[in-house]
Formats: sequence, structure tokens, C-alpha cells
Amino acid sequence: MSQSNDKWSAEAYSKAAGFVPKLTTTVISYLSAQPTDKILDIGCGDGPLTAQIAASIPQGHILGLDASASFIQTAQENHTSQNCNFKLQDCRRIAECAEAVDGSWDKVFSNAALHWILREPSTRDAVFKDVYSALKPGGIFVFEMGGKGNVEAVHSTILSVLVANGYALSTARESCPWFFPSDTWMTRQLQKTGFEVEKCELEYRPTKCTPKSADGSGGLEGWIKLMGAEMLSVVEESKREDVVRQVCDVLETVVTREEDGSQYLNYVRLRAVARKA
Ligand code: BEZ
Repeated sequence: MSQSNDKWSAEAYSKAAGFVPKLTTTVISYLSAQPTDKILDIGCGDGPLTAQIAASIPQGHILGLDASASFIQTAQENHTSQNCNFKLQDCRRIAECAEAVDGSWDKVFSNAALHWILREPSTRDAVFKDVYSALKPGGIFVFEMGGKGNVEAVHSTILSVLVANGYALSTARESCPWFFPSDTWMTRQLQKTGFEVEKCELEYRPTKCTPKSADGSGGLEGWIKLMGAEMLSVVEESKREDVVRQVCDVLETVVTREEDGSQYLNYVRLRAVARKA
């Protein structure tokens, strides 16, 4: 998840984007977990999916890594099965965790995390190289993340509102914490690392916002405040609520469905299965 200051809490994430670990049927089917599998989970968050996978590998083992101390603490408290462990680790530098890169893993898995982890162009090659080192020969890297065009309306609205409020476009762009690559970029990157790419696909998946809570968390506003926190951080604190309101006002007609007033974000998922030769 986020790589620098820890904005995450399991509760805030669940209120703003609790659908993320639930919409995983396809990527879990690609993982095809076998009872004895040894699986490394990159960017595991607070671990609900890691624990779900652990239950399907009774003689195997899964290790979840995440850069958020808050998420790792929650994961360790909530998921205590013997074959499921969690470790605090910045996944831009997986090689710092010696047990992760020892070439013993059957599978490396990641859901909804690589768009944060791969944000910095200078650290991307190392992430793929470390995943390759982690795997046994013949092992697979199976992941889902945001792909090209993901949450495009929200992304461009935040940029535009920041510019309209006097911030330089370059500052607004630099504050964006996400990288949403195309399937072409990803296929080339995986092949460059040495992987055989078995699948690499984009799926357009409009996703309904969670309901807005009385405390202002959840809903479109809660999503923007949590997921867009880095972009909003360029705005001085006293003006931040107003900027969030401007973003929500612009998006209102774009994301709202006339039939029932529900609001949808246009998620685009990039999924891949890549094998270590
Ligand atoms: C995603 O899972 O696609 C996502 C998460 C945070 C911000 C934007 C997109």
C-alpha cells in the first residue's frame, strides 16, 4: 500500500473501498491455489484475502508483506492461522526480506497494491526482479492492479481542481500516488524481467461506491479523502475540505446513475499470470 507516511487504517479502508478485497473471483481463480502451495502476497493490506488464500492451502503457507504498520498490526491481530504470516516490508524493496527472495515460492500474488508500489519509475525494475528471484523455476506471478484509464474521471478532476485553485500542473501530477499501466507496458516489463507471460488483460469494471457514513467516511467523498490523500496534501489544511467539495461537485453528474442516484467509479483492472522460466 502507501509507501511513505502511514495513512492507512483497516476501518477507513473498509469504509472507503471495502469492495476491493471482495471483487477478486477472477484473480483468485488464476492463482489456482493448491493445498501445499507456498505463496508470497505483495501489498497484503490488512490481510483478508491473504487469510482467505491461507484457508485454501492447508498444507501450504502464505506470507503477506505490506509497508503499512497499521495494516500489518491489524492483519496479525485478525488472522492467526498457523499457515498465514504477515511482515512489515516496503514492497519497493522486497529483497530486504531475505526469506521473500530465496527462490522457494510456488506463487507470488498481489491484489490492488502494485499501482502504489510501482509509482516511482526508478524502483520498478527492482520490484519485478525481486518477484522473479522469489519464485521457484516454473513458479507463477499472479496479480491484479489498476490499469490504464483506472478511475480516470476522479484522477483528472482532482488534477483540474488543484490547477483551478492555483497549484502548478506539475505539482499536482507529482503528487499523484498511482501508476496505472497498460497491458502493453506490463507485458513488455514482465518479458524484460524474464517471465513468460501467460495472460495479461484489462477489464473495465465500474464499481459502486460504498455508502456514505454519518462521520463523512465512505462514499465518493470518503474515497477521495483516503485514496487521494497524497494529492490533497499539496493543499493547505484549512482549504482541503473545500477542495474535496469542489472535486465532488464536478464529479456529481459524471458518476451518478439517474435510475437510483448510486455513484460508480470506473475501475479498470489489469490482471496477469507470468511464469518464471
Ligand atoms: C484501485 O484499486 O484501482 C485503486 C486504489 C486506489 C486508488 C485508485 C485506484
